[in-house]
Amino acid sequence: MICQKILKGKKANLRPLKISDAHRWVNWLNDREVNQFLEITRIDLKGEKKAILGMLKDKNNYQFAIETKDGIHIGGCGLKDIIRNGRCELGIVIGDKNYWSAGYGTDVIGLLLKFGFERLNLKRIYLRCNKYNKRGIRCYKKCGFKHEGRLRKHIYRKGKFWDEIRMSILINEYNKKYGKRK
Ligand SMILES: CC(C)(COP(=O)(O)OP(=O)(O)OC[C@H]1O[C@@H](n2cnc3c(N)ncnc32)[C@H](O)[C@@H]1OP(=O)(O)O)[C@@H](O)C(=O)NCCC(=O)NCCS
Repeated sequence: MICQKILKGKKANLRPLKISDAHRWVNWLNDREVNQFLEITRIDLKGEKKAILGMLKDKNNYQFAIETKDGIHIGGCGLKDIIRNGRCELGIVIGDKNYWSAGYGTDVIGLLLKFGFERLNLKRIYLRCNKYNKRGIRCYKKCGFKHEGRLRKHIYRKGKFWDEIRMSILINEYNKKYGKRK
């Protein structure tokens, strides 16, 4: 599904994902430093274009490109598996490593939470994360996500099985932390 509106944050803007973004995604998703934290480990341009098309057609999925205020495309994010007025899963990838740990993730997640809770009227937003993704976990905690569970030895990476962490934020927690925002 496409949200035509640009969501404007303090550091980043979110615009709709486009098929023409695919080549940058291929670079990011094939980068081991990036994909060690993701489910996908390798993809080609044809596969990525098909994946983007599928996401754009999916009525329960909003995907955005993350751009800096200067218009540099640095990653993507979205809400998927949306149950109307209920819940969804949040996903985020800052594919350009130069922009890690500089506050973009925190800013972008704030925008997605606002979109999900205030515009889609959701009650719960959750995410899945590899246990060794310390940067991600720190970022999600800062954004108000709470640890809610652990799937033991669920993810196979780097020759080993790792726990998957589940985190979520509920509408009342969002309202308390973020208050009414413009
Ligand atoms: C995870 C991700 C979205 C976070 O976005 P980000 O812009 O890097 O995060 P932020 O800068 O907003 O916040 C990161 C926080 O983690 C901290 N941090 C960085 N490395 C850390 C580490 N190894 N251990 C603990 N904290 C760490 C940062 O200092 C910062 O905290 P602070 O603001 O209190 O100093 C981004 O790094 C990313 O996309 N990484 C690659 C793909 C990925 O992991 N996707 C998520 C899959 S679940």
